Amino acid sequence: MERTFLMVKPDGVSRQLIGEIVSRFEKKGFRLAGAKLMQISDELAKKHYAEHKERPFFNDLVAFITSGPVFAMVWEGENIIATARQMMGKTNPAEAAPGTIRGDYGVIVSKNIIHGSDSPESAKREISLFFREDELISYSRPADASIY
Ligand code: PPS
Repeated sequence: MERTFLMVKPDGVSRQLIGEIVSRFEKKGFRLAGAKLMQISDELAKKHYAEHKERPFFNDLVAFITSGPVFAMVWEGENIIATARQMMGKTNPAEAAPGTIRGDYGVIVSKNIIHGSDSPESAKREISLFFREDELISYSRPADASIY
């Protein structure tokens, strides 16, 4: 069972979209393994976005992600990394299809509601940056028998 790291960004928290976003992944059939509302430190933000440190928007990205609480989550399910990225929509909400999270709720790229890991390697790295192993729970639900 694949795991991914998803995070409702400060704009999504402020716009009261946590429940809507959790609901989409739940209804899809994915399983929540861990979650917490947290304030990201400058240090954690820079580690999380380290691969983008040469990009012109890096400082703005760090300032934005530390500007208010985020809702960090680990979800699991088959092929969840790619499917979650599809459910999120393209990075720039202006290009994200209607029906996706960014397509339905986002307007500009620097406030695009949600982050999701883009590969198994980044999922592993991001999950370990935000969660200790004992904060994550694997379990089965009655519904899983109908989903798989
Ligand atoms: S992606 O999804 O990683 O392929 O997108 P990428 O274009 O490489 O963007 C990397 C992260 O930077 C965010 N981003 C921006 N933030 C502020 N301003 C501008 N102009 C901007 N462009 C991109 C983008 O949302 C990615 O962050 P995450 O958290 O992965 O969404």
